[in-house]
Amino acid sequence: IDHHPFEVNAAGHLMIGGVDSLTLAEKYGTPLYVYDVGIIRKNARSFVQTFKDLDVQAKVAYASKAFSSIAMVQVAKQEGLCLDVVSEGELYTALQAGFPTERIHLHGNNKSREELKMAVDENIGCIVIDNLYEIQLLEEILREENKTIDVLIRVTPGIESNTHQYIMTGNEDSKFGFNLINGQADEAFQLLHNHGHIQLKGLHCHIGSQIFETEGFMVAVNLLFDQLEKWLDQVDFVPEVLNLGGGYGIRYTEEDEPLAYHIYAEKIVAAVRENSERLNISLPEIWIEPGRSIVGNAGVSLYTIGSSKEIPNIRNYVSVDGGMADNIRPALYEAQYEAVLANKATEEPTTTVSIAGKACESGDMLIWDLPLPEVQPGDVLAVLATGAYGFSMASNYNRLAKPAVVFVEDGMDRLVVRRESVEDIVKNDLSYE
Ligand code: LLP
Repeated sequence: IDHHPFEVNAAGHLMIGGVDSLTLAEKYGTPLYVYDVGIIRKNARSFVQTFKDLDVQAKVAYASKAFSSIAMVQVAKQEGLCLDVVSEGELYTALQAGFPTERIHLHGNNKSREELKMAVDENIGCIVIDNLYEIQLLEEILREENKTIDVLIRVTPGIESNTHQYIMTGNEDSKFGFNLINGQADEAFQLLHNHGHIQLKGLHCHIGSQIFETEGFMVAVNLLFDQLEKWLDQVDFVPEVLNLGGGYGIRYTEEDEPLAYHIYAEKIVAAVRENSERLNISLPEIWIEPGRSIVGNAGVSLYTIGSSKEIPNIRNYVSVDGGMADNIRPALYEAQYEAVLANKATEEPTTTVSIAGKACESGDMLIWDLPLPEVQPGDVLAVLATGAYGFSMASNYNRLAKPAVVFVEDGMDRLVVRRESVEDIVKNDLSYE
């Protein structure tokens, strides 16, 4: 676990936030999502501090799709972050958490009238406009209520950023936003600037997720400014805000080489500064929307080892009490994770096993060919870096109950999401007898 931010105690047990993970497994049961809140805060602060050090106006919005719960939103609030929400459910969670509404930004490529109305009624800080239909819905709501709201236009700059490369795609093929290349962004701009009820603050783009280089962000900034230059020339439009989205990559396995978060911020600021100077406009506020990089490496999933199946000369399957229902990423993206036996964290590996989930599906494998010490039923497996898009993409497949979530900080543990019960599983079912 050298390349993960966790320690092992004298008993050889994995520690999370100063608490023995075995104590947590015993106290709360497994499967269990555990977050080291200190790491969440550290991640948040490293983004916020960088912009302070660079002396630029910036907003760091936590993309709550990565992991949304009332407690998590409260941590984001405590750290002074803004919050990116993409649905009625995420917005409602934020409101229940007491998150300041002026720091909430609403995203989505098919926001419903109800979602837009809720955003307007709650006076949230910003709506990121994705499409023409949404403009129509929003106009109606704002006219009816005689209100105004700040917006950004989400544009699709025609680049796709990947781990080590970015691909210029001549013709953009994405369901999100207004394409820059074919005039869609222009059309949105003509509708929105100088609008009576909609205050256009600037542009938004999000080039991808789990990105390990800065080049894509710089290319995106340059493309945004090419467009902005035209609007500056045409109608003197000067953006107050540029939002570069999220996507900052984290380490799941030893092969991943994430950049320090300040590197992204520095490069983005440099590119925005250079372009602003070129256009002779004042530096817009820079917004970013990290999700994974705030919570990913802070989360650990604890499972109890159960049955196993040995196929001689082929493979050893070892099953845990969770799987694709609480972490769909391996099945969905072939995502890779590392794991240790939480009760034998210092023991050398002596065997190689493949970790199977308990769902009735062959694809429900969490980790293939994992080196571990001798594994026994009752051992606790800790899968590392599961803090992003695990809980938030969990399902009740096979009517499995969703695990509890525990926050640990400074040696104290606290339940922040209760484990679902079988009663929860049937609570919306109605009888047909
Ligand atoms: N902003 C926008 C507009 C986004 O679409 C996303 C993620 C983010 C910010 C946050 O991106 P992050 O910093 O977390 O990379 N379920 C997938 C990831 C989907 C990301 C969707 N959008 C996964 O588990 O890898």
